[in-house]
Amino acid sequence: MRIDVVSIFPEYLAPLELSLIGKARQDGLLDLTVHDLRSFTTDRHRTVDDTPYGGGAGMVMKAEPWAQALASVAAAQPADAGSKPVLIVPSPAGERFNQALAYELAEEDQLVFACGRYEGIDERVIEWAEEHFTVRPVSLGDYVLNGGEVAVLAMVEAIGRLLPGVVGNPESLVEESHSDGLLEYPVYTKPSVWRDREVPAILLSGNHGKIAQWRRHEQYRRTAERRPDLLETFDAGSLPRADRTALADLGYDVVDGRLKRRPDSGSAASA
Ligand code: ADE
Repeated sequence: MRIDVVSIFPEYLAPLELSLIGKARQDGLLDLTVHDLRSFTTDRHRTVDDTPYGGGAGMVMKAEPWAQALASVAAAQPADAGSKPVLIVPSPAGERFNQALAYELAEEDQLVFACGRYEGIDERVIEWAEEHFTVRPVSLGDYVLNGGEVAVLAMVEAIGRLLPGVVGNPESLVEESHSDGLLEYPVYTKPSVWRDREVPAILLSGNHGKIAQWRRHEQYRRTAERRPDLLETFDAGSLPRADRTALADLGYDVVDGRLKRRPDSGSAASA
């Protein structure tokens, strides 16, 4: 995969040289280039922003440096690319980033990230970019960052680790939070007793069937307690009876393949 990131703070992206993503770059699994937006300006002051039409606080990023930068990265598209590159514009006004989107984007040949700052980028650039890219404004969550760089660090890590060969043991991608629509189960390591706290006995039993079932139930318990919204969209169509019983104990019944919270079931956390 090829990734281009355009930013006025290229140094902000330095962590992408470290750890798994840094290694993936060194190993040639990920071809990632960071571009300085200011190098696409033509004036002496390397201006990237101006005051907003219509008034209001803050500054808006000018269209032309962005068009130059994006045209330059679009021209560098791999020769064998089957489709337009995807232009991701991090913005609190975008669609929400999640694991499903990370998987979807991990299938692309080229991703381009446009890190806005200030009040955002002149909207005409986003319209113009549709000619060259599939444009996706994407939000990390319902809060406001100072710019897109931190969001890009998070998204590139979430997407990059799904590329073949990046995570040493691909099995670990299967059992983690959000891979199956639930939060992951709690994990423990040695010693088996630490400061008078014991590891759940089932994990020491060697009974792999029972361990798998316990972990699954812990996933339900945690998800009900911390993220009940995930259970609303969870596909409960073909759950084994033991799972349905565990969910019933947490106050959830399966109705038409979906989980419905029983109105009288109190707090899921205490179940
Ligand atoms: N830029 C500013 N806030 C953001 C957010 N929540 N997600 C993505 N990019 C942003």
